[in-house]
Amino acid sequence: MPSLFKRFFARLPMARSTRAYDFALAQVDLTHAARVLEIGAGQGFGAAHLSRALPQAQVFSVDITTECLKPERLQTGPRPPIFIQATAPALPLAANTMDAAFLIMTFHCLPQPAQVFQELARVLRPGGIVILADVDGHHWMARPFEWVEHAFISPLTHAYTPAELEHLATQAGLQRFHIRRRPGKEKGFMIWAFASKG
Ligand SMILES: C[S@@+](CC[C@H](N)C(=O)[O-])C[C@H]1O[C@@H](n2cnc3c(N)ncnc32)[C@H](O)[C@@H]1O
Repeated sequence: MPSLFKRFFARLPMARSTRAYDFALAQVDLTHAARVLEIGAGQGFGAAHLSRALPQAQVFSVDITTECLKPERLQTGPRPPIFIQATAPALPLAANTMDAAFLIMTFHCLPQPAQVFQELARVLRPGGIVILADVDGHHWMARPFEWVEHAFISPLTHAYTPAELEHLATQAGLQRFHIRRRPGKEKGFMIWAFASKG
């Protein structure tokens, strides 16, 4: 990722928005989750939010760079998140350990998407869930979003359609794939995709 974007992203106030996390959390019951993975820590506000929303869980938040992290500004829950510098297609995590994996506005910029799903399927425990929120590849905003990302942020960016996400999840052996949209915003550009391991 170009360092220009890193500097821009690190200052972006809306990067602190946790609304996409809240909608995701409202769709699943993670009250007994012990270990929760996030891919794409960014500034760390999402991981901190997860650690407050799931105080019983240890949050592990992976990002390819820690340059954007703002540890001094994070209000964490009783267990502060553990931030790990790694790339999503090669997670340095043991198999069958995570109760849930969150990818909030992150999957669109990851390399090797099929390998990322294979890794998610590997590290999730049986019954664990993937929760992915991103730009709907069918939405009219998807192409302009990709153009801007390609020009300024990453040539890898791709806004996935629900069918593409379902194919990737199914190929990785995940089950019960479904898409949710925010009530009243069914035509919005955000989709939330869910799939489980068994
Ligand atoms: C748009 S930010 C989203 C951050 C956060 N989830 C949020 O919603 O505020 C995407 C993040 O994905 C990270 N990222 C990009 N490529 C990655 C990779 N290969 N492995 C892990 N993280 C990556 C970027 O560094 C960036 O922090």
